[in-house]
Amino acid sequence: METQIKKLDAKALDMNVIAEAGRVLREGGLVAFPTETVYGLGGDALNPASSEKIYAAKGRPSDNPLIVHIAREEDVYRIAAKVPKEAKGLMEAFWPGPLTLIFPKTDLVPGKTTGGLATVAVRMPSDKVAQALIQAAGGFVAAPSANASGRPSTTTAAHVAEDLDGRIEMILDGGQAVIGLESTIVDVSEGKPVILRPGAITKAMMEAVIGPLDVDAAVIAADSGVKPKAPGMKYRHYAPRAQLTIVEGETEAVIAAVNRLTAEAEAAGKQVGIIATDETAGRYKKGLVKSLGARSCEEEISRHLFEVLRSFDETDADYIYSESFETAAIGQAVMNRLLKAAGYRVIEV
Ligand code: TXA
Ligand code: MG
Repeated sequence: METQIKKLDAKALDMNVIAEAGRVLREGGLVAFPTETVYGLGGDALNPASSEKIYAAKGRPSDNPLIVHIAREEDVYRIAAKVPKEAKGLMEAFWPGPLTLIFPKTDLVPGKTTGGLATVAVRMPSDKVAQALIQAAGGFVAAPSANASGRPSTTTAAHVAEDLDGRIEMILDGGQAVIGLESTIVDVSEGKPVILRPGAITKAMMEAVIGPLDVDAAVIAADSGVKPKAPGMKYRHYAPRAQLTIVEGETEAVIAAVNRLTAEAEAAGKQVGIIATDETAGRYKKGLVKSLGARSCEEEISRHLFEVLRSFDETDADYIYSESFETAAIGQAVMNRLLKAAGYRVIEV
């Protein structure tokens, strides 16, 4: 099939394009669209055939549930059987925005969309293109990140096309995703809320609103042996083709170690990529150096992580060495993704 790519300006939405994309979704087709976190691969969440197409297009295992996106807060009550008061507090504070909540589902949601689970993940994005598309599609759009399964999530329409061109009907191009990492996921389906995936809405931000939250052990695990509660978090993810290693320690020691490792690898005829920051990039003497942005600006680091991981696949790098990041706020989400991309390969210096 030929994939149509349509540019959209969130400040002056072309409603003809939105209507056309909405029609594609209502007729069971797939449309990739921008959100404030990453691009999503959308299908009608209430149509099991659409969910099957999403799994096929991504090459994703079908036991891995999809997030249902809504554009009006009241629509959550049609797909969630129970909305506890903690969830209401979080919705009021952070919706629309980069927060996904997991509820017990109603019968309206097909099992194909939830990977057979009795719960449903729901998110209300703040991106204007996303909101308009969801409304035009009838209100419920299932959307995983719009990447081929296993590759880094996509933050631009060009990245979506790299992975999905010819496999979906349409891509809406709304420019670069502002946050660059997927939403925070919190399970509110039973008892105390539990963070299943860290993101831009941090534990501290949520605790300021509703009090203590638990964190799924797999989120903070330093190895891959702990089984996560979000099914998708167990799969190999985000991995670049080159072997990625995180180098952790004091800045000067990290720079010295990366320079030494790079020199050794190059002497052995290998190509090396380095994931640096603006503050350090000039200190690496060999290798292909890419900066995520200023270390002092966590938002810049998160916005560029997937783009930089992806860009190394266009090179002949055999090894990539990455600096490590503080896990204060969104830094925890950055390190969670980086550790997975590295298969938990970390060198302490
Ligand atoms: O920011 C985002 O969340 C993006 C944009 C497009 O909204 N979407 C996204 O979807 O990251 P995806 O499918 O790539 O990741 C969703 C994660 C998966 O790890 C999945 O297993 C988990 O959410 N998940 C979905 N439904 C769940 C449920 N009912 N219970 C537990 N985990 C669930
Ligand atoms: Mg994903």
